[in-house]
Amino acid sequence: MMGVMGTYRQLLNTEGPRYQEHLLRLDSESSYARFSAITSDEVIGRYCQNIDWRTSKIIGFFHDGVLRGAAEIRYDLRPLPDQAELAFSVEKDFQNSRVGTSLMVRALLTLRNRAVSKAHIVCLLGNRRMQKLALRYRANFKAHLGDVFLTIDVPYGDISSLLAELVDGYLGWMNAGIDMVLGPKERSPLFERSPPPTVPLTTTTQQQLPR
Ligand SMILES: CC(C)(COP(=O)(O)OP(=O)(O)OC[C@H]1O[C@@H](n2cnc3c(N)ncnc32)[C@H](O)[C@@H]1OP(=O)(O)O)[C@@H](O)C(=O)NCCC(=O)NCCS
Repeated sequence: MMGVMGTYRQLLNTEGPRYQEHLLRLDSESSYARFSAITSDEVIGRYCQNIDWRTSKIIGFFHDGVLRGAAEIRYDLRPLPDQAELAFSVEKDFQNSRVGTSLMVRALLTLRNRAVSKAHIVCLLGNRRMQKLALRYRANFKAHLGDVFLTIDVPYGDISSLLAELVDGYLGWMNAGIDMVLGPKERSPLFERSPPPTVPLTTTTQQQLPR
């Protein structure tokens, strides 16, 4: 499976409308899988307007300057959150191209560096793709009625995970800046893609995980 070119970076808290446009572009099947429910455009609009950016973070995948994929992180409400919920959305034309994998790596890296020890994902029982993605990180799997509750144990961060996030964030913003100044099509091949940070989720286990 080939990866797809693009830029990964965190969304600013002024970019709710971009996130909304991305979620509205999801085809009906993906939208249903994302929210575990049929949602109207109004519901998605309200959902985006009500995001509390103090307790949420969204990592975006941009292709030609357009947001095409996102990992939404919602921390629990404690001053020092120990748990977080993750939700993923990738537009149909970009699915199965490792965008979800790259977003997952970055979301877990973010949690790792903030001492969050558990990541929860809720998806539909039939959502094999999401389950495969989470099971790579040894997610604990519980099915209830039509939903699956996946919990990933997140190890503590270390100097390599901190550096990986720092460098990845820097590259993401540099690419975004180049997109803005030159336009995405003019970008030098040197900057065409910020690859997922190579630091594994744990320094010991990832290679042994089932693929
Ligand atoms: C689920 C989702 C985030 C995955 O992102 P993606 O970019 O399509 O996934 P990736 O390409 O990174 O990886 C998908 C993996 O699932 C595998 N896969 C694809 N279809 C599959 C299926 N029907 N059964 C099992 N595995 C499947 C792929 O082979 C790939 O594994 P590999 O990397 O080992 O080859 C994306 O498809 C999506 O946004 N779907 C709609 C919204 C959603 O379901 N959100 C999750 C609930 S919050």
